[in-house]
Amino acid sequence: MSNINTSHEKYDEPKLMDGGNYIREGRDSAKSTCLIFSPRDTDEVGALGRYLQLFANHKVNLLHIESRSSLRQMDAYEFMVECAPGGNLGDAIESLQEQSSYFSIISRNHKDNMGTVPWFPRRMRDLDKFANQILSYGSELDSDHPGFTDPVYRARRKYFADIAYNYKHGEPIPKVIYTAEEVATWGVVFRKLTQMYPKFACKEHNHVFPLLIENCGYRDDNIPQLEDISQFLKDCTGFTLRPVAGLLSSRDFLAGLAFRVFHSTQYIRHGSQPLYTPEPDVCHEILGHVPLFADPAFAQFAQVIGLASLGAPDDYIEKLATCFWFTVEFGLCRQNGELKAYGAGLLSSFGELEYSLSDKPELRPFDPAKTALQKYPITEYQPVYFVAEDFEDAKEKMIKFAQTIPRKFGVRYDPYTQSINIIDSKHQIEDLVDNVNQEVQILMDALRKLKQ
Ligand SMILES: [Fe+2]
Repeated sequence: MSNINTSHEKYDEPKLMDGGNYIREGRDSAKSTCLIFSPRDTDEVGALGRYLQLFANHKVNLLHIESRSSLRQMDAYEFMVECAPGGNLGDAIESLQEQSSYFSIISRNHKDNMGTVPWFPRRMRDLDKFANQILSYGSELDSDHPGFTDPVYRARRKYFADIAYNYKHGEPIPKVIYTAEEVATWGVVFRKLTQMYPKFACKEHNHVFPLLIENCGYRDDNIPQLEDISQFLKDCTGFTLRPVAGLLSSRDFLAGLAFRVFHSTQYIRHGSQPLYTPEPDVCHEILGHVPLFADPAFAQFAQVIGLASLGAPDDYIEKLATCFWFTVEFGLCRQNGELKAYGAGLLSSFGELEYSLSDKPELRPFDPAKTALQKYPITEYQPVYFVAEDFEDAKEKMIKFAQTIPRKFGVRYDPYTQSINIIDSKHQIEDLVDNVNQEVQILMDALRKLKQ
């Protein structure tokens, strides 16, 4: 488990942006197109140069180029190029396709390109591209936000948004020195909710909470640091946190889960209303979400939703986001005959936590195909909650549901390379079977030793 006293030295100073205009145009990967291809009839890695000439001929600019050994064909190479919008991309694709033994197009503009797959991150570091994809920058507050007319609060929100915007994969999450007022707000929320957890929270949440107190500085007079929590989660389940500057699209947010990465806010709600927040804040993330991500079965369940979302059509993204809402955010489960909360939206809202476990709301069993179609309000208590038997059962159901998503390939997360393998060839499936065989042998060996 991580030790908070020694880990502080490695924090980077937050990088902040200059001036008052904090909405900076980043490289717009929203419009870029990724091509993955293997050359035909050659095993020369140098063949890439010839293929790249094709793009120059068609006046297509390349933003990123990489070459790897192919997972699909023996002794072959595979190239990935990210093309900027512009030039004659259609013709370049056509010529390239003719000369490739394997060809796949992944595009943010998937609706305009027949046969392309919606863009998704293939490596954990690709998540850096989301910083430019936020729907609203974190410091822009609505006029009915409790902090709207408070210049000090708005400046703080810009500070937090800048940290997230400049964050890059692999860096420690900058440490934040919270103000006395922020810590006081946290204290009110912390004391109120921790009184309720023993009675209302699921056993997994109650099991992990003392470990967070011990390892990550969860106390009523201290707002824990995301970096310490991220290190702790990494030790438990491989989940890590990434600071987020604003609201991500459902597609991008869910894609993070495929890598066991959770996008987390770092700012806190406005001090004038400590028990209310119109948006997720650090209390919601670290009191509601974090304890569950330390549970191995729950971590797997969340990753299954993430993997299902990669390259899925838009209507299925909405369905998966709805399943996420009714489980990870507002899920209930039955434990020893009693109803308990495991959703972070409930575990971070004392009012709804009590309400959800009263006899007022309607309860239905969690069934992804049906749950995915349920409409829900976002500004008031939920009229309907879905009850999971346990996380293993919920995971099995999600896996079955994911199989109904129309996709031309399977996906698998490779933790060694922190990347997603697109499985669309016989060779890869054979390799997977070999891996499973190896795992079974480890199991058999361990079983034999247990019996001795
Ligand atoms: Fe949440």
